[in-house]
Amino acid sequence: MASVWRAVCVLLCLSACVWDRVCVDTEEEIPEENDVLRLKKSTFDQALKRYPKLLVHFYAPLSGESMSSIMEFSKASAQLKETTSTITLAGVDVSKEKELAAQLNVTAIPSIRLYLSADKHNPVHCPALRDADAILTWLKRREGPSADVIEGLGQLKDFSESHDLAVLGLFKDLEQGMVQVLFSVAAEVADLPFGVTHSSDVYTHYNINTDCVLLLKKGKLDSKLEMSDDITAEALTDFIRIHEFDLVMEYNGKTAPQILNSVVKNHLVLFINKTEESFTHTLSEFHNTATHFRGQVHAPWSEESRALFPLWEELAQRQNYDNVDARSATPTYVNIRLQEKPPSIKIFPAVYAERVIHYTGDRTADAVVEFVQQEMKRAKKDKAKEDRERKKYIEKVKAQEAAEKKDEL
Ligand SMILES: *[C@@H]1O[C@H](CO)[C@@H](O)[C@H](O)[C@H]1NC(C)=O
Ligand SMILES: *[C@@H]1O[C@H](CO)[C@@H](O)[C@H](O)[C@H]1NC(C)=O
Repeated sequence: MASVWRAVCVLLCLSACVWDRVCVDTEEEIPEENDVLRLKKSTFDQALKRYPKLLVHFYAPLSGESMSSIMEFSKASAQLKETTSTITLAGVDVSKEKELAAQLNVTAIPSIRLYLSADKHNPVHCPALRDADAILTWLKRREGPSADVIEGLGQLKDFSESHDLAVLGLFKDLEQGMVQVLFSVAAEVADLPFGVTHSSDVYTHYNINTDCVLLLKKGKLDSKLEMSDDITAEALTDFIRIHEFDLVMEYNGKTAPQILNSVVKNHLVLFINKTEESFTHTLSEFHNTATHFRGQVHAPWSEESRALFPLWEELAQRQNYDNVDARSATPTYVNIRLQEKPPSIKIFPAVYAERVIHYTGDRTADAVVEFVQQEMKRAKKDKAKEDRERKKYIEKVKAQEAAEKKDEL
């Protein structure tokens, strides 16, 4: 009997031991490197519980883009530690922590997410931030007001002259309505200073009556967007991002990162000898041309175009499932850019070289599919007719040649 008790006791002790080990494991030490906590799969949840405001940087050390972002993130963390901030900065090396990255649905690298109150599923995605200052500004604007309030002309002068580039919102109501669109954009666009005002002196100064957002460059009004009710945060962000650069910029070591990191994806580059006589004239013509293209690259992503994306996906899926055994007859839905204002749907039947059919029907998958099927039937009929005619023609030519040969003999 005693030995049974001893065995039970040993078992209990053993399981207590095992339990202990588990406890120790879950309280694993989290290493810190360059002011940033380095997280892995076994410590991520623990960090989430311990730090209610956890800003996590996902990176892959070997990618060039990650390199500078790792440095800037460390810099931001060091600066933050000198303040009373309650935000903790951590990093995950995605090249090592593949499983963790997959669990967290991390798709973009490098990227930054703010996890709040241990909620693993709904992090706040931090916009692509270029440097430590922008990261800190983004954090600051999330906690406090995102734009400076400008009371009058004196403050306006200070604000506009202390920044090369600044965004100024003129709103009659600084509490509700479209000003909220500006605040939400300001919270995300952390690399630029934002101001708001309802001062009638400022309206008069810029000779403006309606609510507007202005881009100020070196203290001067550069561009203006009227804030009508249909302006979304996206449209305002696009306006700022497209106009923040001069229309024509010299490409050099200083401007290259700005140009290459901007939302404008297409650039027209002029290679020119600056000491040549024709330089000034050519540059001025180039400038004129550029005015016609500004912002166009963005048109395909307008709200209207975006609204069509789900339809497009549905069509692409139907194509895969409905026509697996009729590959040659499968219509292909392509998205191309045309001269006219997008979005538009066009069909390019493969059997005709130049024919483009513009679709004007309902923008539903059923309607588009039916239209495409009808067009395919028609195209097949036309093609069959064309084939018959071609065959006839070839036979006729052959018969003629044979007749000529006969004559020659
Ligand atoms: C990742 O995505 C899957 C599928 O959408 C979802 O079930 C899961 O909860 C997501 N994970 C997190 C951490 O949000
Ligand atoms: C640029 O133009 C000047 C004046 O025409 C000429 O002397 C110089 O060689 C040119 N430079 C290059 C790199 O072609």
